[in-house]
Amino acid sequence: MTHMRPLIAGNWKMNGTGAALDEAKALAAALKAEPAAARVALCPPATLIERLARAVEGSAVEVGGQECHAEASGAFTGDVSAAMLADAGAGLVILGHSERRALHGETDADVAAKVEAALAAGLEPVICVGETLQQREAGEAVAVVQAQVAGSLPKSLNGKDFAVAYEPVWAIGTGLTPTVEQIEEVHRAVRAAMVARLGEAGRAAPILYGGSVKPSNAAEILKTPEVGGALVGGASLKAGDFLGIIRAA
Ligand code: 13P
Repeated sequence: MTHMRPLIAGNWKMNGTGAALDEAKALAAALKAEPAAARVALCPPATLIERLARAVEGSAVEVGGQECHAEASGAFTGDVSAAMLADAGAGLVILGHSERRALHGETDADVAAKVEAALAAGLEPVICVGETLQQREAGEAVAVVQAQVAGSLPKSLNGKDFAVAYEPVWAIGTGLTPTVEQIEEVHRAVRAAMVARLGEAGRAAPILYGGSVKPSNAAEILKTPEVGGALVGGASLKAGDFLGIIRAA
C-alpha cells in the first residue's frame, strides 16, 4: 500500500467560527506555493463547510463534514444529511468518531447506516475505529477494532473511495501516542479485517492514524507500515502546525 497517496485530514471538531477561515486560506495558499505529496482535507463544523469550501476553491484543500444522519431527510431536528454536506461543498465525511460513539451512543450498525447514506450522496467516508484505555489494558485492542471494522463497514463500500481511521481513544487530545510497533500491529489487524469484510477491495483504501499527531511525531508515524495518512484534531486548527504534518507525509 506504500504507493497509495496518503490522506492528511484535519478534524476541527466543535471549533471555529468565521475567523478560522483565515487558517484555511493560509493553508490553501501554502499548498499552492508548494504542492503537497499527500491529499489534504479540512473537516470544519457544519456551519463553516460552505464558506470554507469557497475560501479554498481552486486549491488542493478538500473539504469534509464530521458526521451525518443516516436518513436523507425528515423530522430529525438539529441533524444534517449527507446530501446537505455534499450540497454545501463537502467531498468527504468523518463517521463513527469515538466522540460520536461515546457521547451520542453511536453503534457499529448506526455507523454502517451512515456510511451507506454518505455513499448514496457521493461522499467519501472516513470511518473511525479505536479502543479505550481499559480495552487496551485488557489486551483487547485488536479484537475491538476488528469488530468495529466488521460492524461499521457495509459491503457497499466495495469499489468506492473510502478510508478507515484508527484512533485509540486514549491518544485523542491527550498528547499520548502508541508506539510505532503498536500502531503497526493495529493497522495490520485493521487491514486484515477490511479484507475479511470486503475482499480485495479491502486492500485499496488507506488506513489513517489519529490521536495526538503533531509536527514533531508525524514523520515517524506516517512512515509506519500500513499507515496511509493521519486524522488530526488539535494540530489541524492552525495552518502552520497542520502544514508541519502535511510536509512530513
Ligand atoms: P487530536 O489530534 O487532537 O488528538 O484529535 C484526534 C482526533 O480525534 C481526530 O479525529
